[in-house]
Amino acid sequence: MTFEKHILCIGAGYVGGPTMAMIAHQCPQYRVTIVDINPDRIAQWNSDVLPIYEPGLDELVKATRNRNLFFSTNIEQGIRENEIIFVSVNTPTKTFGTGAGMAADLQYWEKTARQILEHSTSPKIVVEKSTLPVRTAQAMERILNTSQNHVRFDVLSNPEFLAEGTAINDLKNPDRVLIGSRETEEGLKARNTLVEIYANWVPREKILTTNIWSSELSKLVSNAFLAQRVSSINAISALCEKTEADISEVARAIGTDSRIGSRFLNASIGFGGSCFKKDILNLVYLCRYYGLEDVADYWEGVIKINGYQQERFVRNMLTAMFNTLSGKRICLFGFAFKANTGDTRESPAIYVARRLLEEQAEVVITDPKALDNARIDLADARGTVHFVDDPYEAARGCHAIAIMTEWALYGELDYARLYRQAEKPAFIFDGRNILDPRRCFELGFNVFSIGKRPLTHF
Ligand code: UDX
Ligand code: UDX
Ligand code: ADP
Repeated sequence: MTFEKHILCIGAGYVGGPTMAMIAHQCPQYRVTIVDINPDRIAQWNSDVLPIYEPGLDELVKATRNRNLFFSTNIEQGIRENEIIFVSVNTPTKTFGTGAGMAADLQYWEKTARQILEHSTSPKIVVEKSTLPVRTAQAMERILNTSQNHVRFDVLSNPEFLAEGTAINDLKNPDRVLIGSRETEEGLKARNTLVEIYANWVPREKILTTNIWSSELSKLVSNAFLAQRVSSINAISALCEKTEADISEVARAIGTDSRIGSRFLNASIGFGGSCFKKDILNLVYLCRYYGLEDVADYWEGVIKINGYQQERFVRNMLTAMFNTLSGKRICLFGFAFKANTGDTRESPAIYVARRLLEEQAEVVITDPKALDNARIDLADARGTVHFVDDPYEAARGCHAIAIMTEWALYGELDYARLYRQAEKPAFIFDGRNILDPRRCFELGFNVFSIGKRPLTHF
């Protein structure tokens, strides 16, 4: 079969995998290939057990794999044979040298740019999918334009806004698709090629086009704003706990103002995930680089509050449980950074588990999808940690249950049974406000929610 377009994606991760599966599914006339340096990852993508859990992803991959979606480790061949190359390799926070702990580590990304340069013999459109600091496209262009064989490269920015757990729906019905390009004749032509790809299923009015720098910056700012909402509501949750205001009532009251909006106002134990912290640190670094200290400080506050919220949660547990956790068994319900994913990157549960271990508590962790990652995250932690699949087994004999992830399953458990099995006095710390505190209290638990008055029997 001949295909209309040949698309390559370098990096088979949380972004590249689902995005390309969606393009392949919506556009059977295109051939889509995903390559990765990690052969195990590619083997998993080619197997029955995909490397990431994402609702709806299995079906999408099954329907397209080896039809017009291919997974391979042959990066060179991929570059040679495809005219459109998406780059979605990881850009973690730098851990060394200048900008350590703040700036993006661009080594994987630059390696990819050089590989593209080395193996290209025909014109390519290179699409930045990974979140990158502003003006990375320029660096990409500079590397690519050293081409000895005079191959033409057009670089586009097309940040991905999908959220984990809802990736498939986000990709299928996006609020918008953003495409940034150079505003030259060639740049606009390349941009149109990418617009045509998305227009196969996304309404034209939802495909926004901008200059390339606006596109790069919008991705960082979008995540910074979202994270800022979580930190804002979490900051207010602390005040609610002091004043007898109730955070759910406050969130509902402010969220009905259409200028504020009701979504993303769930007070929690703090945000996690691979993007928010990394992107804000990136933004802060960028502001400092340009001498904008006050702007940098403003955004840094969002991360500070997130750390504060996690520590506050542990302190509340300590205070409520008579100032000692030593030798107590504490069960964490959930370890993923949010529901419907097995991903634990930057999960607040990691911090909480480590702090509880420091307090010499015995920690029991349960999660329907994230236990393998949890084991890796806590491999070097000192103290006693158990990983248990069944939540009733996990909670048996525990002094406290702490809800870390808002999995629907934890709202549906039999809390009367959990109470019978618990060490008394029994405590629940609901880090996601998914339980009915009054009901749990009436069953016998002492209940501590985020931003609400504690309900205790003493
Ligand atoms: C985020 C952005 O939403 C997405 O657009 C971008 O492409 C990648 O980063 P993701 O990290 O997958 O997506 O999940 P998201 O739903 O944004 O949640 C991030 C964190 O914030 C989670 O830990 C979540 O539990 C927390 N959160 C979110 C809250 O604590 N309260 C809320 O109201 C919303
Ligand atoms: C505000 C609240 O909107 C209102 O709900 C409350 O009852 C009283 O305070 P007001 O101060 O009258 O109302 O006007 P508002 O439209 O909120 O604007 C406040 C300031 O913010 C103005 O100086 C306005 O110019 C500025 N603003 C507003 C911006 O600079 N940018 C914006 O996007 C919005
Ligand atoms: P994201 O959440 O941004 O998708 P992931 O870490 O899930 O990030 O995925 C990034 C993928 O990119 C990983 O599978 C990694 O092996 C791959 N990768 C990193 N560097 C390269 C490279 N030079 N060539 C090909 N793949 C790479």
